Amino acid sequence: MKYVIANWKLYLSDEEVIHQATQLVAGHVASSDELEVVVCPPFTSLDRVAELPGRQFTIGAQDCYWEESGAKTGEVAPHDLKSIGCEYVIIGHSERRALGETDEMVNQKIKAAYAAGLNVIMCIGETLDEKNSGTTDERLNAQLNIGLDQVHIPENNKLLVAYEPVWAIYPSKQEVNPEEAITHATAIREQVRHLCSAAADAQISVLYGGSVDSSNVNAFLAGGVFAGALVGHASTNAQEFGSIINSVMNS
Ligand code: PGA
Repeated sequence: MKYVIANWKLYLSDEEVIHQATQLVAGHVASSDELEVVVCPPFTSLDRVAELPGRQFTIGAQDCYWEESGAKTGEVAPHDLKSIGCEYVIIGHSERRALGETDEMVNQKIKAAYAAGLNVIMCIGETLDEKNSGTTDERLNAQLNIGLDQVHIPENNKLLVAYEPVWAIYPSKQEVNPEEAITHATAIREQVRHLCSAAADAQISVLYGGSVDSSNVNAFLAGGVFAGALVGHASTNAQEFGSIINSVMNS
């Protein structure tokens, strides 16, 4: 199974989100047995995107909280995401971590997402400082060891780990060497297999993220270690997103 995930972040206004999602429906962008296409709009438009007539792609949220109710101003409950049609949730994105999200919080969110029946897209990646100080492997291991501590992936759910070098995320102009990223992905996959040993192989995939576009996506998918891509900026252009999907489908 391959995956293309669109993380629309806060790039589009509400009106633009609905327009963009409608264009994807009109272009027959669809999840299938071989390729799952997941679109993650902001919370405010999730339910309307989920209800678009003829929608064949899957819906995901960009974050969630780890409790279902309480005095938690501004938070969103995993069960509510599930009930409005979300099947996936992004957890631990570097842009959330930059605002103070810790590995322990990521761990709690992942457990809560599975309890609500959601699939998890867990983001990990080193900052430029960590890369420059030679601590990338250490950082990735800590993110996995703490983030996945005591995590049981339910039989019907998936764990997609997105390796996103923080220094490569748009608008960074820094280029990632695909071979280096693939080496990290191999180690990540092994570590996740070890930490979630009860899960079946098909439940776990590693994706690449960081300025992915139609011109570079194939280089990351070469060799079959990365099972797809988490795409931010380039996914907000329907034509470019379609080209990325085609490249992944034919990779
Ligand atoms: P980008 O974002 O494709 O815009 O670099 C990827 C991400 O942050 O998930």
